[in-house]
Parts: sequence; structure tokens; C-alpha cells
Amino acid sequence: MTKEINTPPVCDYEGSDYQDKFWKEGGRAYEDGAEVLALKRLLPVGGKHLLELGAGAGRNTPRYQGFERVTLLDYSTTQLQQAIQYLGSDQRYRFVAADVYRLPFAPRAFDAATMIRTLHHLSEPNIAIAQLRECLADNAVFILEFANKRNLKSILRYWLGKQDWSPFTPEAVEFVELNFDFHPASVRKMLTENGFHLDKEISVSFLRAAFFKRVMPLGLMLAKENFLQRGFSWAAISPSIFLRSTAFPQGQEALDMQTEAFFRCPACGHYPLADTPPELKCEQCGQTYEFKDGIYDFRLK
Ligand SMILES: C[S@@+](CC[C@H](N)C(=O)[O-])C[C@H]1O[C@@H](n2cnc3c(N)ncnc32)[C@H](O)[C@@H]1O
Ligand SMILES: [Zn+2]
Repeated sequence: MTKEINTPPVCDYEGSDYQDKFWKEGGRAYEDGAEVLALKRLLPVGGKHLLELGAGAGRNTPRYQGFERVTLLDYSTTQLQQAIQYLGSDQRYRFVAADVYRLPFAPRAFDAATMIRTLHHLSEPNIAIAQLRECLADNAVFILEFANKRNLKSILRYWLGKQDWSPFTPEAVEFVELNFDFHPASVRKMLTENGFHLDKEISVSFLRAAFFKRVMPLGLMLAKENFLQRGFSWAAISPSIFLRSTAFPQGQEALDMQTEAFFRCPACGHYPLADTPPELKCEQCGQTYEFKDGIYDFRLK
């Protein structure tokens, strides 16, 4: 059985120096610290296996301490190579190059997942979220970060006539090619329609502005951020939002599909796909996948 899945364009990070330029040299210690605060409040204390979608260079990975295993998935092999350098050869980690629109995992392979600063690049987020639900166990926790189009700055700019798109309408806005801001209500709807129950939402990066970074020390900014996250998340007007949801149990039919398999063939959907490095071969469609220098490559060329 060949599974037809649309594969929209991927925002290409191959060879990108994003980690150094954006985070290390870009003066983003405040944004990084603000995410730490949100993750601390949203992450479960522990679990078996967490899937990190769009993991990049592994900036957030050390924060998933409570999990026995973490699989880092990213389309860019150079981002994953940086993640390997950063995290070392810890056996807890598995590195997978794949498209979030064609996930190479069997049903129920994970009991948790995160996707941070990645929905942002998806023109068809619904396809990726539906794929994710398939490889999560019932009651798995999913922490999703998205860029919020209805943030205070865009509201003010719209009211002052400096921005032509409305921050209040449900459609995503593509402000640069393959860079999208989403309306909070649309993201919530997408999650519930794909079998997730919304648990908790935290607004993040309230003070993301050069002015605050100039006049306030980092510690004070993060103290204020903590206060704002706790008191004003209900308004959902910050530039970034973290949403924790839980995968609704899927009933008997899904339970019948229960498997010990971990990989599935992203080309045809067949599982189990035996983990036989340096080459994995799908016994149904014959597609082969390489394991090289610590990275499984499931990208379909
Ligand atoms: C802005 S970076 C964020 C990295 C990391 N989550 C962080 O917060 O530091 C976005 C990442 O998403 C990955 N990405 C974008 N589109 C993807 C897709 N369709 N499939 C898999 N990864 C994708 C990029 O390669 C990049 O590493
Ligand atoms: Zn196959």
C-alpha cells in the first residue's frame, strides 16, 4: 500500500550558521531563558522516549533530562551534525534526518514530543501535526511553540496603519518566504481536530525588544518574564506561545495496530522497518535509507 502524503516545501537550513548567528551572536539570551521558564512549567517530570521535531542544533535537548531517550529529528543534516557535537555521543540520543511531513516512525513510538520554533516554517502545519499524532502513544504530551500573529506589536502597528494584514484574522501570515505567524485560535483548533486535548498555554518573550535588552540586566528581564508568563498568559499577546496538549486515546482500532516497531518507511508507510545500519531497507517498497556518521537519513529525494 503506497501512502499518498503531500510534501510541501521545506525551509532549508543545510549549511546554515543559524545556531551561532541567531543565538550566540544575536543577543538572544533573554529569549532562550524565557523558553527555559516555559519548558520548566510544561514538561512532564519524566518519560520513556521524547521526539524533538525540528530539533536544529539541539539547543533545547539538554532540557529534556527526565526522558530515558530523546530522538532529534530535523531535515538538515548539518544542524544534526552540530547537535551531535553539542550533545556528545550520549546513547540516550538518536539523530534522524527527515521531513516533518513524512515521519519515519511506527504508531505509538513516543510518549512525548516537542516542536519549538519549527511550526513557524510550515505552510501546511496540519499535515505535520496529523503525522505526529500517528506516532504518539495515547495520552502522550506534546509541547508546541508557535509564533503568534496576534502579538501586541502587530496589533499596535495594525491600528496605526503601519501594517496591512490584520492580526485578528485566523489565517497564517507569511512575512518572509516559508516564515509564518499563526493565530492562537487556529493553532488550538488544529490541535483539537488532530486528536489532542489542550492542557496549558504559556505566553513567552513578553519583553522581546531591543530597548528592554539595553536598559535591563538579563536577570531582571527574566524575573519580569516569569511574572508576566504567570499573570498574563491568558491574553495571548506575546510574540511566542507554548501550548501543552495531550494525545486523546484513539480507541480499539488503534490499539489493534499496536507494535513494538520503532521505524516505519516514510515512502510507503510500512512498518516494522528493521533497524539495520548502515542501510535500512523497506521490505514492502524496496526503498533504502542510510545510517551514516550517527545520523539516520529518511529524506526522500
Ligand atoms: C528556527 S530552527 C529551530 C531549531 C530548534 N528547535 C531551536 O529552537 O533551537 C527550525 C528548524 O526546523 C527545521 N525544519 C524546518 N522545516 C522542516 C521540515 N519540514 N522537516 C524537518 N525539519 C524542518 C530546520 O531545519 C531548522 O533546524
Ligand atoms: Zn516502503
